[in-house]
Amino acid sequence: KNPVVAVCGATGAVGREMLKVLEQRDFPYSEIIPMASYRSAGKKVPFKGEELTVVELTENSFEGVDLALFSAGGSTSEKFAPIAAKSGCVVVDNSSAWRMNDECPLVVPEVNPHDLDWHKGIIANPNCSTIQMMVALKPIHDEAKIKRVVVSTYQAVSGTGQKAIEELENQVRRLMSGQPVVADVYPHQIAFNCLPQIDVFMDNGYTKEEMKMVNETVKIMGDPSIKVTATCVRVPVFYGHSESINIETEEKLSADDVRSLLSKAPGIIVEDYPEKKAYPMAINAAGEDATYVGRIREDETIANGINMWIVSDNIRKGAALNTVQIAETLIERDLVRVP
Ligand code: A2P
Repeated sequence: KNPVVAVCGATGAVGREMLKVLEQRDFPYSEIIPMASYRSAGKKVPFKGEELTVVELTENSFEGVDLALFSAGGSTSEKFAPIAAKSGCVVVDNSSAWRMNDECPLVVPEVNPHDLDWHKGIIANPNCSTIQMMVALKPIHDEAKIKRVVVSTYQAVSGTGQKAIEELENQVRRLMSGQPVVADVYPHQIAFNCLPQIDVFMDNGYTKEEMKMVNETVKIMGDPSIKVTATCVRVPVFYGHSESINIETEEKLSADDVRSLLSKAPGIIVEDYPEKKAYPMAINAAGEDATYVGRIREDETIANGINMWIVSDNIRKGAALNTVQIAETLIERDLVRVP
């Protein structure tokens, strides 16, 4: 029997994309139940040419549900994921609440699908910036062992949620018509600006988003020897995160070696034709599933270094798609059950 699937946070930016991805990939289900807060109960969401009615997410929502895809914020996941798992429902959670918990696998299906084997009911979907970086780094790490990564991100507002998408739209409109802007979601104006702050600051001077990239990389790769240092920046782009990445490897790889490695790797499209001015761009990656890699070149200041530019749709591979791919892998491996 195909699973009964709940989409928790179905009215949000990621939840709506989850429904779209489930539809597009012909995901096997016997029922799809969209859930959100009491504010949205009764609202309709489109699915396969029909309309599904949103129900309120409560402690009793998970009876008879086999699989729940969560993207309803950290505190909602913290509260409801254990309740779901307790009633026998396997949770794939897109928030940061469970990512570093030792009981919860943190999975990018192209990189560490084997970690799903030890799940105990809650599986975490990594941070959006980490996911696309992992897809691109894994083949390089397998071939030449990565010692250190320096990453700077250029992150789209959709990663913050629906309200942030509206804030950028409104600020652009107001500025173009000579009105003062209102910043509500972000601490400063995001239109025509770059904010070197994503999430809150930690004691070490880094932001929480930056430390997510550091810590999640080690857990996903299963290799504590990989050192990552990150600067995360919010830019006035609606969809698609871009990343500038500098990698130092143990073994020497030429730029051509990296191009050929990545061309064969799952989930990656190499787009690297400087003579045609062709390289990955957020506006092209938006709405797509792949992680695009370009501007691949050797770092001439160290012995074994590579620079590259990685772009992917943060709402798809960075969130909804990766979550659905995890669910598909669970079904393939007959792991849709709480041990
Ligand atoms: P609602 O629309 O009813 O507030 P986004 O990331 O785009 O801001 O979306 C967040 C999603 O999480 C929305 O679907 C939102 O539903 C849902 N959500 C937020 N808080 C809760 C809650 N306490 N219980 C259930 N769903 C919630």
